[in-house]
Amino acid sequence: MAWSLAHAPGQKGRTALVTGASAGIGLETARALAARGAHVILACRSLERGRAAATRIGGSTEIVLLDLASLDSIHRAAAEVLDRHDRLDLLINNAGVMFPSYQRTEDGFEAHFGVNHLGHFALTGLLLKSMISVPDSRIVTVASLAHRAGFGGSDAARARADDGRRSVTAYGRSKLANLLFARELQHRLTTVGAPTTSLAVHPGLSPTRLWNGDPPALLRPAVAAGLQWLAQPAEQAALPSLRAAMDRDVPGGAYLGPSGLFGNRGKPGPASSSRASRSKGAQARLWALSEELSGVQYTYEPTTAEAPDDAVRPRTGRQG
Ligand SMILES: NC(=O)c1ccc[n+]([C@@H]2O[C@H](COP(=O)([O-])OP(=O)(O)OC[C@H]3O[C@@H](n4cnc5c(N)ncnc54)[C@H](OP(=O)(O)O)[C@@H]3O)[C@@H](O)[C@H]2O)c1
Repeated sequence: MAWSLAHAPGQKGRTALVTGASAGIGLETARALAARGAHVILACRSLERGRAAATRIGGSTEIVLLDLASLDSIHRAAAEVLDRHDRLDLLINNAGVMFPSYQRTEDGFEAHFGVNHLGHFALTGLLLKSMISVPDSRIVTVASLAHRAGFGGSDAARARADDGRRSVTAYGRSKLANLLFARELQHRLTTVGAPTTSLAVHPGLSPTRLWNGDPPALLRPAVAAGLQWLAQPAEQAALPSLRAAMDRDVPGGAYLGPSGLFGNRGKPGPASSSRASRSKGAQARLWALSEELSGVQYTYEPTTAEAPDDAVRPRTGRQG
């Protein structure tokens, strides 16, 4: 039976943080979680857009200022969340840019890599202590069908390259990095025996503001045709994220996306991904690079003393 929001359990008592909740798929994700009773932290880079989103979303929300293009801002946002909340049940790494007007982040990283991947890597690492002892806590990272265009891997030079603003491969690389990250994180969480899981999703194709960037000229007709014929509204494009966040039958490490029209639209179900995204070597290399570039080292200790003793006991394998 196809999954729909009607199958989602109530979320009362749960706290979710959604990045990029001011628009598009993030706003719809936040709206659906709030409608099911979750308290939703809207992590937005503009207070004004965050407030406008909160009005549209309704329910129980709060805003945290977060600019994923700035490691300083990420540290401030994480500190604020940890200060205000003992626990986080859901982290939805959703915000993203494609062909942005700027070339680099505040810290000098290529914009797609910096915002879409490295910013979320740092944020997740800083917030993990508030999730690591929470039963059925989940980290959902939004990738893309475009991860298949992410040729060339990620290395320190590429992470700082300045040829990415209008490059399809730069966007694809950042989305491949989202998938590699989500899978390596699941591996590490399993290794330490944490109740937290990491899942990845892609939303298919949706006519959001993401497409208002400045794509290469050759791509524009295909984009226009795709958005006209293949796309689905943001409300539906949010369903893979929502299923990954709420469907207890979906295990950690899963990758979900729309199941119809070559993955562009339809009900959320298992999605396929490139061989590159399944490379354990690439997952481990990206992790090491991301720790080095962001300066955020993952630890698996809970925030609170009441955490169950056996929640984070290391088992075997690599440690973060
Ligand atoms: N739409 C699609 O067809 C499609 C396809 C595949 C994957 N995706 C993925 O889906 C996710 C959501 O995209 P969308 O389509 O909903 O795009 P969108 O409508 O443009 O929304 C993007 C969100 O990310 C936020 N954001 C951008 N840069 C940020 C930064 N530096 N710090 C914090 N927040 C930032 C935006 O905030 P502002 O309001 O401040 O701009 C906005 O809330 C992205 O990860 C995207 O790659 C989308």
